[in-house]
Amino acid sequence: MYTKDQTKALQSLTNKLLKNEATIDELRHALRFHEYRYYILNDPLITDDVYDLIYKKLEKLEKENPALITPDSPTQRVGNSLNTEFITVAHLTPMLSLENSYNPQDLIDWDKRLRTILDVSQITYSTEPKFDGASISLIYENDILARGATRGDGIAGDDVTTNIKQIGSVPLSAKFSNYGIDKIEIRGEVLMTKENFKRYNAALAEEGFAALANPRNAAAGSLRMKDPAAVRKRKLEAILYHISYIKINEKKQPDKLIATHAGSLQMLAALGFRTPVNEKKLLHTIEEVVAFCKAFELKRDELPYEIDGMVIKVNDIELQQQSGSTAHHPRWAMAYKFKARQATSTLTKVEFQVGRTGSVTPVAKIEPVHIGGVTVSSISLFNADVIAEKDLRIGDAVIVERAGDVIPYIVKPLDELRKGNETKIIFPKNCPVCNDPLVKPEGEAVWRCVNINCEAQVVERIIHFVSKDAMDIRSLGESNVRKFYSLHFLKNIPGIYSLNYEAIAKLEGFGPKSIDNLRTAIENSKKQNLHRLIFGLGIRYVGEATAKTLGKSVQNIFELKNFSIEDLQQLKDIGNKVGESIFNFFHNDDNIKMLEILADAGINVAGDKIGNKEGKLSGQTFLFTGTLPTLKRSDAEKFVEDNGGRLLSTVSNNLNYLVTGDSAGSKLEKAKKLKSIKIITESEFLNMIQT
Ligand code: IVH
Repeated sequence: MYTKDQTKALQSLTNKLLKNEATIDELRHALRFHEYRYYILNDPLITDDVYDLIYKKLEKLEKENPALITPDSPTQRVGNSLNTEFITVAHLTPMLSLENSYNPQDLIDWDKRLRTILDVSQITYSTEPKFDGASISLIYENDILARGATRGDGIAGDDVTTNIKQIGSVPLSAKFSNYGIDKIEIRGEVLMTKENFKRYNAALAEEGFAALANPRNAAAGSLRMKDPAAVRKRKLEAILYHISYIKINEKKQPDKLIATHAGSLQMLAALGFRTPVNEKKLLHTIEEVVAFCKAFELKRDELPYEIDGMVIKVNDIELQQQSGSTAHHPRWAMAYKFKARQATSTLTKVEFQVGRTGSVTPVAKIEPVHIGGVTVSSISLFNADVIAEKDLRIGDAVIVERAGDVIPYIVKPLDELRKGNETKIIFPKNCPVCNDPLVKPEGEAVWRCVNINCEAQVVERIIHFVSKDAMDIRSLGESNVRKFYSLHFLKNIPGIYSLNYEAIAKLEGFGPKSIDNLRTAIENSKKQNLHRLIFGLGIRYVGEATAKTLGKSVQNIFELKNFSIEDLQQLKDIGNKVGESIFNFFHNDDNIKMLEILADAGINVAGDKIGNKEGKLSGQTFLFTGTLPTLKRSDAEKFVEDNGGRLLSTVSNNLNYLVTGDSAGSKLEKAKKLKSIKIITESEFLNMIQT
């Protein structure tokens, strides 16, 4: 959608915007471009912070000149009021569903049937994934997104335009007029990627809410949420795959792309939509279609989102029209369903596990079953409400589903198979580890052990601290933490840095090499970036993103002691609850003592906040490469900071100056390609400070 030259021009425009020289139109133009890079190409050219900066500039200008606001301005995505009720709206064309096939023979039979209807020697099939989300239809009129609706009963659905606008990959405007189109209705699927689903569920669990069963439910539920801001947080995606209505401008010739399905996908992609244009394949025999579907099924787990089959469509729109539809589905398309990833098993018992924050999670133990190549024997039931809702009992035959790398879950018990000897699941009243009474905070679905010295919590906190996204001490994984804890070698987080290696060396399986690895991994963790330490502390509601925000807001972790709840709320994405939790953490003497011990042990506690110094280099970023003729690298870097400049560690579009010395290598090459970077010598650099 953007050519190389346009991309370059838009990048330099972005730089201009940052210098306050841009018009409202230019700001919008640039924001749309960066949204496209981020949401459609998954290849952002700027950081979130820079995007926010440009966005704020636009917001400010629009506030000053409300008459200049357009419905497709990037600021218009944000719904500032709650959805009260969803109005039912009729689709321009009924949203039919697809006929299902489950094996190659079904497809071969369909191909035969089609050939009796269509009098052609060859049918080209376009075959693409069947996305497992929630169907939507979008209407664009005069190039502007006019309406987004759910499928409903196929004839009419709910108008969910405001919620659809929260999906970054849905363009608020698109130049359909360039293709001679006045009005168009497009169908597609709203999805949540597996990665986002996991992240979202982890956040829900952290907040004491019931987890969502699978990405499909997460997407479908999102569309009907009252609060558009909450929809935005779910980070949904929309993939568009079918044009269901089109009105051509009377004065124009319809573009020939819309004569085929593949062409339509190409047009939609060129207009900035996400489509299966790259995944689809044009095939000329049904045998090739079968082979393609089978091959795709094997790749299913590698995709970032869930698919439950393939959809095979007659590529030629004229032929589609000739084959027509039944009352329920078109004759020109067929779904090829993949094998269900469900199995039945028996629920043998329920165990209760205490997490890092004291949450007590019921875990179902089932007779081991194979689903999609994995043996499942243990399934989280999330909380007491889930057990009650599903009316699960010990001894029940249960349907278990495992979708891709999404954690398995119990769909339902088969109550028609009950024999009468199934027993109720009794949720404990006391912590299964420390025996303290459990509490259920108001509004939460989760029972908690509130004894912060409860052994289960202490161990889980250490496991979290060493985990991959926190301090990443790989040699000290979960099983070693549990082992060392049970042997009293490790009592708490600071204990990691004063382990008795001689005692460990006496354990079976700990030879000199593994002791060495362990020591090195622990030693290396001392240099980790501050946000990893903050994340590793396991402060409630503080995920990786918030930890990064905090890391960037201080020059030293202990500064967080001085932040009021209001100060914290000024930071990106920190609301009341999160702010309060951080405040409480840094106003607890035990926590501060722990941080002091960690700092004394040599763990990095320095943050990434840029010094507030104002100087000749304020607002400019620098990177040094090669051997400088007179200055030591560390002195040169200090000059930058002392003069209010900022150091970067890599060459990117955020870099203003690359200062080069002798034998500068790849950084210089890279900087030469990025035209916006000024490449200067040491003496030019010194001149900047002196003049
Ligand atoms: S085409 C008139 N293409 O599957 C037919 N549908 O079970 C238009 N779906 O209702 C639909 N991926 O919501 C089409 N690539 C794809 C699809 C797809 C998922 C959904 C769609 C449909 C349902 C049928």
